[in-house]
Amino acid sequence: MVPEHNRIYCGDFFGFCNKIEDQSIDLIISDGPYGVTQNDWDRIPSIQEFNLELIKTFSAKLKEGGTLYLFGKPDCLDFIDYRPYLNLKSKIIWYQPSRLAQGRRGYTNNYDIIGYFIKGKKPRCFNLESIRVSQLVELEHRRRCENVPSVTNGQYGKTRFNKNGKNPGDVWGDIKQLTYKSKELVSRQALNTIQKPEKLIERLVLASSNPGDMVLDPFSGVGTCPVVCKRYKRNFMAFEMQPAFVEAANDRLDKLDQGQTAIDFLYGM
Ligand SMILES: C[S@@+](CC[C@H](N)C(=O)[O-])C[C@H]1O[C@@H](n2cnc3c(N)ncnc32)[C@H](O)[C@@H]1O
Repeated sequence: MVPEHNRIYCGDFFGFCNKIEDQSIDLIISDGPYGVTQNDWDRIPSIQEFNLELIKTFSAKLKEGGTLYLFGKPDCLDFIDYRPYLNLKSKIIWYQPSRLAQGRRGYTNNYDIIGYFIKGKKPRCFNLESIRVSQLVELEHRRRCENVPSVTNGQYGKTRFNKNGKNPGDVWGDIKQLTYKSKELVSRQALNTIQKPEKLIERLVLASSNPGDMVLDPFSGVGTCPVVCKRYKRNFMAFEMQPAFVEAANDRLDKLDQGQTAIDFLYGM
């Protein structure tokens, strides 16, 4: 039986994935094992081999032009050949300057990788207009740039700043990690290794899917991706092995209908 849409299944994704129809998915957001923590689900002997198997599986499930975002640490794709399955368009760096930097023997890692893959050459969609970010340049600098001619296709033209903002690029420092004070945090247990900020997942969903599209979230945690999908009218198929997280995720989905945030829910407001 094909998994139902807009539902979070409680169990091991690998037990379900054969039931998902091939070439039926527009977008996959894979925020699963990183291979770095002591959590049972994160103890992976080789994260690169694990990710290669994921990429093979996801490639079969994606429609032509579909997108995969694969989360991991900087080495998560090293020395594996994903090219027969998907095209890596960018390695997005999610920069987290506020991460505690306590290493003494080397440079502390303060970013995650989000591998942006496409099945085939051209993405089905890339909705830049939905994800523009502010220019962050001073007006004076902007005027100076706009008055300097630049060469485009052999023609002289002027640099134009889009009034709606710029492309976010591939280093994202504008989205903060959740802290224990964040309103959307579901529980302290979900801090750090589990829950992602809605803003981060929103950028991925808005850029690479359209309303009515099917989004697969194989490692759903406390349901950030399903919440974003529901808010923006995308369909989803989600899987999570920890029953308490599925429950928290379903609560978030219910509260969304009532326009409440997680914190309102926790404090019974
Ligand atoms: C990084 S968290 C995902 C967090 C999620 N993006 C959110 O914002 O809540 C990874 C999750 O994957 C789950 N997980 C790991 N392996 C799994 C598997 N084989 N099947 C289903 N869930 C799995 C873990 O229990 C964990 O909750």
